[in-house]
Amino acid sequence: MHRRVNHMLDAQERWAKPVGEWNQRWITAAFARTRPLKDVLNGVWLGHPVHPAVTDVPVGALTAGVLLDLAGQRKAADIVTATGVAAMVASAATGAADAVDAYGRPQVQATVHASIMVASLTAYLASLAVRAARPSWRLLAVSFALLGYAGVAAGAYVGGELVYGSGNMVDRHAWRTGGARWRRLDVTEVPEGALIRANAGQDTLVLYRAGDAIHALDDTCAHAGAPLSGGAVIDGCVRCPWHGSRFRLSDGRVVRGPAVYDQPAYEVRAVDGGALEARRLPGPLD
Ligand code: FES
Repeated sequence: MHRRVNHMLDAQERWAKPVGEWNQRWITAAFARTRPLKDVLNGVWLGHPVHPAVTDVPVGALTAGVLLDLAGQRKAADIVTATGVAAMVASAATGAADAVDAYGRPQVQATVHASIMVASLTAYLASLAVRAARPSWRLLAVSFALLGYAGVAAGAYVGGELVYGSGNMVDRHAWRTGGARWRRLDVTEVPEGALIRANAGQDTLVLYRAGDAIHALDDTCAHAGAPLSGGAVIDGCVRCPWHGSRFRLSDGRVVRGPAVYDQPAYEVRAVDGGALEARRLPGPLD
């Protein structure tokens, strides 16, 4: 079934790609003027994407709404359905903040997900309108709600595929653990003021010298895998070349999104013979 659904999803590329790119342009322009708001919606403050947490509210409320409708509990059903619809709007804002930085297949999946959710929201708004204006047309109101709920279920599936299947907003260092071993770097010189890429065993690092100190972070951006060595240094942070996330050079702390996870940081030492070695600093979960 999963393969069949994925096949159907990929077949939407013809319309979803141009629609996704168009959405990306205007949402990017809107967030360019409200960058701190985008960081809040992404979850930089939380150290975790906000969207999956917020979506629990409409999914839970709308599920309760369907059950209460079917049980004939009109007033309770109306209240939780209205709550779910309001939470759908909040979910849309956080989802847009995440999806605007997606490209290729994840962007297509995000567009299909968003389109299904907008259709579902429309059905729910119709349901709420009927509940308010024509209480005696209960069957119609419930039918709209059931239609909307089917959309929520389908949209949630596609959203799950976007995260679990395509890895959108997944920490690129999720399986990386701290390491107590020093590893020799394949560079011996780190000139001041430049981002230098270096290998330490299987790890690729980005190095930056500030006076006597050499800062080192994993070179792969935690957000979507860009090489940070292709970025720039601003205010003691390395700025990712793809979406502009900033990580503190001293400890890898994320200070600007869309990344929400910190970047693995390393300490560097000079050893006899002029060689350099690096060792991973403990992360928050180590
Ligand atoms: S890859 Fe997106 S901010 Fe680095």
